[in-house]
Amino acid sequence: MSSNQSRAMKLADYQAPGFSVSDIYLEFDLQDEQTRVTAISQVQRVDSAIRDLELDGKKLILEGLWINGTQTEVSLTEQGIRLTEVPDQFELRIETLIDPVNNHALEGLYKSGGAFCTQCEAQGFRRITYFLDRPDVMARYRVKVIADKQDCPYLLANGNLIDSGDAEQGRHWALWEDPFPKPCYLFALVAGDFDKLEDQFTTHSGRQVELQLFVDKGNVSRGQHALDSLKKAMAWDEQKYGLEYDLDIYMIVAVDFFNMGAMENKGLNIFNSKYVLADAASATDQDYFNIESVIAHEYFHNWTGNRVTCRDWFQLSLKEGLTVFRDQQFSADMASAAIVRINQVRVMREHQFAEDSGPMAHPIRPAEVMEMNNFYSVTVYDKGAEVIRMLHTLLGEQGFRKGMDCYISRHDGQAVTCDDFVQAMEDANQRDLSLFRGWYSQSGTPVISVDCEWDESTQQLRLDLTQKTPPTADQAEKQPLHIPVAIEVVPVSGQGEGRSEVLSLTGQQQRFTFENISAEPAVALLTGFSAPVKVDYQSTPGHQLAVILYASDPVARWDACQQLVSDAIFTIAQNDARTVPDFPIELFAGLLEQAQTEPALIAEMLELPSFETLAQQRDRIDVDALLGARKQLKTLLAEKFSAQWQRLFIQLSNPQYDYQQQQVERRRLSGVCLSYLACTEASLDILRQAYKHSDNMTDTLAVLKACQAENLPLFDELMQDFEQRWHDDPLVMDKWFALHAGRQHPGCLSTLQLLMSHGRYSINNPNRVRSVMGTFAFYNTEGFHRRDGSGYRFLTDYLLELDAVNPQVAARLITPMIQYAKLDENRQQKIRLQLLRLFEHKSLSRDLYEKVQKAL
Ligand code: PHE
Ligand code: ZN
Repeated sequence: MSSNQSRAMKLADYQAPGFSVSDIYLEFDLQDEQTRVTAISQVQRVDSAIRDLELDGKKLILEGLWINGTQTEVSLTEQGIRLTEVPDQFELRIETLIDPVNNHALEGLYKSGGAFCTQCEAQGFRRITYFLDRPDVMARYRVKVIADKQDCPYLLANGNLIDSGDAEQGRHWALWEDPFPKPCYLFALVAGDFDKLEDQFTTHSGRQVELQLFVDKGNVSRGQHALDSLKKAMAWDEQKYGLEYDLDIYMIVAVDFFNMGAMENKGLNIFNSKYVLADAASATDQDYFNIESVIAHEYFHNWTGNRVTCRDWFQLSLKEGLTVFRDQQFSADMASAAIVRINQVRVMREHQFAEDSGPMAHPIRPAEVMEMNNFYSVTVYDKGAEVIRMLHTLLGEQGFRKGMDCYISRHDGQAVTCDDFVQAMEDANQRDLSLFRGWYSQSGTPVISVDCEWDESTQQLRLDLTQKTPPTADQAEKQPLHIPVAIEVVPVSGQGEGRSEVLSLTGQQQRFTFENISAEPAVALLTGFSAPVKVDYQSTPGHQLAVILYASDPVARWDACQQLVSDAIFTIAQNDARTVPDFPIELFAGLLEQAQTEPALIAEMLELPSFETLAQQRDRIDVDALLGARKQLKTLLAEKFSAQWQRLFIQLSNPQYDYQQQQVERRRLSGVCLSYLACTEASLDILRQAYKHSDNMTDTLAVLKACQAENLPLFDELMQDFEQRWHDDPLVMDKWFALHAGRQHPGCLSTLQLLMSHGRYSINNPNRVRSVMGTFAFYNTEGFHRRDGSGYRFLTDYLLELDAVNPQVAARLITPMIQYAKLDENRQQKIRLQLLRLFEHKSLSRDLYEKVQKAL
């Protein structure tokens, strides 16, 4: 074990800080390789038993430290420095030197393109100065930024600009003050040259807020959608939750080098440019959607995250689960609620269920953490949001709002826990949520088994529900949870009324009886995906069809459809069958007929379940058989309905591109048609024409994806054209790289090699790395899971290189390789071999070490 790989921290060991910092003044003298940071903090002892002040610090050069003006010696610790026997109250001055240009981990202060920027969540501030780098230490910040006037005309930090001026040698400075105390993870600074878009928002109470969006030079025309999204989010939060913005200025800066999606720094959000820039030619409908949702997410953090923040990092879901839930509600209001929900269900099933059954399984409030960056997970974020959604379901719209009001007013300005949140919900609604709290401490995906019987003579429908959570890597014993199980009962004949209800499952086993069910019912379980669980229910194709046709809940209809198709795929895979069951064919015939009436929902229904979704339905999978079966069904459906796909595709063509709901839905369906058409002989001309006449990236990408999935020679031809047109555009080139990396063909490893020696490839740019290696590892199933293990070896070779540059990104990319339990023994063995190589590597980061060690 190297020095990087320290022990895990435990939630149970939490201790309140011994000192507080009421105010901090920071001065940055920005230089590429040697930036001087002066930090002057007002420190107070809050626990008289704690005599020494220990500060966190990483990769800092300490130039000097003064206590009340007297230079003082410090001792080094594993985490940073220790000051022994400090006074009860004092001024602490620290000077450090840091090197932004050579900071490729992209934490702390670094350069993205020509601009200086910071990323401090979770523990990046300790790379800027020695400090109490923990969220329960909240201070008021004043920040002076000094830089070259020509290189960095804009000097930004949190809060309000209070003064600025010129300095010697062509430099200038700006002084910012943030009136709201905050943890250091919300600190931000940006200095660089940008184009600026400006707008205004008048809050509910009539205050004027300046909105400023900073983008790379030449990108102004791609910023409007982000700015419009921000205004929508601001209005929505006022209307939905009564939450108003609190500063006079709100700034967003787009940068090309960023580890995550975006960051909610107070008044100065920093964004991955991917979630800011869009125009019809270069961005897809999905990009437009993502931008709106990420802009909203970061904005919503202003209350759920910033004004009320986390006590410690184990509580991360307090702000992330809640804020994801809020951005999901927002997206549902802005776009199609059904489609938004279906896509969230996909994320849960494809990624979260996999995490929860793998070596990194953890509750939404983890109990043990080695490297915090590893816990910005689908579990903390997306399952966290599902837990909040269940509260919303249990308490109702109004009850939830009452709970939110109580939470915000009770804890404004504080750093609190998930328990505090649930307590506010309980108190505002006088409800007992003690059983529900188990969702915060228990990991794993509960399975609900259903036994269902309808008695025609008594007209009773009886449902026996049993819940069981299989043991996970981190927890052997599981308790029953409080699970809201929404159900819909529809008459199989389609004649008569259906019924919808939310059942409260609180015990391990429970019986529910419905009276007056006069006609044979079909039951849709977990409508709206009312809980993050799996359902084990043997329904019949006839009943599933009734749900698809007659249920009112779109998620249930889609789900039944996916289930029917999944069953067919598994049947083909198991029997190695040349014959395909009839029911998917009948189903598709019906769906295609109705496609025009609900294009968006039907597009989702016509899309075959992904490999990852299929994999989640079995304990063991045969990769080759499953891929083969899925492919076989796809080809069959493509050929059987080739005339319909073609007709529908032609009918769906849109006038000039606009990001507008009706158009988006038609484009989505038209893309699905193309994906089937590409499996048929006669499609070349259609694809070529579609590419040629497309006036937008959504349609263009649909053509390229269809060609890629079917390995058509046309793919290479179009990709060359595409590259020629877009080689100077980083965001579009990410799509180009991803299309190549995702192509499943025998030579895919040499393709990857070529991509990485491409002039536009850089290991320092996370977006680029993700588009090549991320796409390969997560979505190139055939290539990654090659039987001879060469896919695993390829990823491992790369991880060893990447880990030395950017451990955070490396640790994300390893995900598909540690979730191997469902694979055959041969593949498992090949994976373990590679994990061992990593494990034995001497200077492996803590990020990778934690995952590898758990996976072995
Ligand atoms: N807090 C950010 C968000 O979810 C995510 C993030 C975490 C960004 C850590 C950077 C580093 O909005
Ligand atoms: Zn967030």
